[in-house]
Amino acid sequence: EETADFSYTFLAWYEREKRTLPWRENKDPYRIWVSEIMLQQTRVDTVIPYFLNFMTLFPTIKALAEAPEDTLLKAWEGLGYYSRVRNLQKSAIQIMEDFDGKMPQTAAEISTLKGIGPYTTGAIASMAYGLPTPAVDGNVMRVVSRLFEITDDIAKPKSRKIFEETMQDIISRDNPGDFNQAMMDLGSSTCTPKNPSCNLCPVNEFCQSYEKGTVGNYPVKSKK
Ligand code: ADE
Repeated sequence: EETADFSYTFLAWYEREKRTLPWRENKDPYRIWVSEIMLQQTRVDTVIPYFLNFMTLFPTIKALAEAPEDTLLKAWEGLGYYSRVRNLQKSAIQIMEDFDGKMPQTAAEISTLKGIGPYTTGAIASMAYGLPTPAVDGNVMRVVSRLFEITDDIAKPKSRKIFEETMQDIISRDNPGDFNQAMMDLGSSTCTPKNPSCNLCPVNEFCQSYEKGTVGNYPVKSKK
């Protein structure tokens, strides 16, 4: 049916076009976690060298938990938002103490870690453990609003639920991690904020706003 066709087409596109990124090399939950925290406020191209350096300095959750503060902050220098790396270490210590040094494997447990909100929980649970959890950020809200002509204001916190529910309905049960990452890649390459390349979009035949010629109306976003 429609959702299965969408998934098939979308995942086939991702498989052909996906960016080669160091945190996509394997499903190590620690690498996925660190990369997602770095990517929260920093662009992919900037993150790559920081990520590689961080993994060399702190290759495991234990190494991160035990890292001296000066080494840790130095590794983050230039990325900004230092609370992110402080929370990373607090969570690493929490994992050593409460989870026997192993990354928790359910969305409910992952979300108890400091600095990990619904987006990062969904990203880790889907990419590392294959759980069908949406990872909804601004890019995903833009893509999903256009696909389904969702008029909820993406600037309002309560709208996130609508987008999560929509993603729950369409996310691939076979490969939720790639499905979430395909959303991210589509949002950065094709379904861009300005002048989206709809003619090149792999899923334009499934896009309700494209069909109606209303892509420019989405996402609905109030000024703050
Ligand atoms: N932005 C946030 N997470 C990402 C990921 N896993 N791949 C590419 N871009 C991202």
